[in-house]
Amino acid sequence: MAVNPALDTPTDLPNTRSVADALNAALANCYALYLKTKNFHWHVSGPHFRDYHLLLDDQAAQILGVTDAIAERVRKTGNVTLRSIGDIGRRQTIVDNDKDFVEPQAMLKELRDDNLKLVEDFRAVKDASEAAKDNATSGIVDDWTDQAEERAWFLFEASRK
Ligand SMILES: [Fe+2]
Repeated sequence: MAVNPALDTPTDLPNTRSVADALNAALANCYALYLKTKNFHWHVSGPHFRDYHLLLDDQAAQILGVTDAIAERVRKTGNVTLRSIGDIGRRQTIVDNDKDFVEPQAMLKELRDDNLKLVEDFRAVKDASEAAKDNATSGIVDDWTDQAEERAWFLFEASRK
């Protein structure tokens, strides 16, 4: 994404563009996963309603909590980030689920797979940041990865038969 000269923030790091591309891809997927997790929080039903409803609310809050840090890493390294829901829609690779009804077990499985997709996105961020000598991004992405792996673990255990 070309940076408008009015937003051209200086950085001494080489190749931050590829880091920004990886961060923006992960950010779009965070927003897609945030809204899907809220969607399932709102629409889950059945005997485990309370457990799943609360679990998904915790997870949604955690996902939303990393979005600002991701976007600000992009800006700190001289690039530009997402601007709109439309921008998210053009970049997201986590697929929306607009079905009228989803079984609770299917919700947990889908969210687990999506969180593991996010782990892959964060691995791409890690690789790009190390190549660019962007130590701060390389360090902070470890926490985001750990959180996504923890969400995938909780979703797996909650759906274990
Ligand atoms: Fe709620």
